[in-house]
Amino acid sequence: NIWQQKWVIGNWKMNGQLQENNSLVHKLRSFQTVPNVCIGITPPTVYLLQVHNAVQIVLNNPIYTCAQDVSRFSEKGAYTGEVSAEMMRDVGVDIILIGHSERSLYFNEKNDVQRQKIENVLKVGLIPLLCVGESLKEREDGREKEAVAYQLSVFKGLKTKNFAIAYEPVWAIGTGKVANREQIADMHQFIYDEVLSLCGNDANIRVLYGGSVNDKNAADIFSVPHVDGALVGGASLKYEAFAAIINAAQ
Ligand code: G3P
Repeated sequence: NIWQQKWVIGNWKMNGQLQENNSLVHKLRSFQTVPNVCIGITPPTVYLLQVHNAVQIVLNNPIYTCAQDVSRFSEKGAYTGEVSAEMMRDVGVDIILIGHSERSLYFNEKNDVQRQKIENVLKVGLIPLLCVGESLKEREDGREKEAVAYQLSVFKGLKTKNFAIAYEPVWAIGTGKVANREQIADMHQFIYDEVLSLCGNDANIRVLYGGSVNDKNAADIFSVPHVDGALVGGASLKYEAFAAIINAAQ
């Protein structure tokens, strides 16, 4: 049951090429299994099928194929450039990131669009992984919980019991600056409480931490209460680092 496992998901962002993807996934495939860990790879959309096919042969430990984004439109049709949740499922995607801060930063994506995307993902039976996190300014002003609560409000009234969230403080993404243990513990507890109050006590919840996770700090981060895994950017592009993070999660 993945709702009881630690999730280690690599978000490749806009990185990768056929050949290097192949060699990275092949190494991960032969990696010794880690029973309590759910491993995921999130390549750019154009490589989803490649990654899905390459992870198929893993017998003992599944590697989940994840997508970085999805269309807010659910029906097929005249939406040039868009890829629907149904198409994602068709090529073997399991989990779809929603609302990564880079989506709001560069594409101005807000709660209403995220909500539509989450509904589309649930409708086709896949798992949305909602990314939340405060900006540096919001933390400096002491408004980090307010910011995260607002982002989590997209879950209100959803018809699901399963909630996957990645807490990624924007100031910790790609900066080498990691939130400290207290900040992580405090926010993860807050996210649990918020989701339970929005969605009911029988919710399945996974809260991953994201933001400069690497092979050196992963074990420490995983030992923080209510940390159910990690969403890893830069360090997921190197086999040794990503493998070490997976090992640290068991
Ligand atoms: O989604 C993962 C992410 O935003 C963190 O990136 O490079 O700081 O691990 P990075």
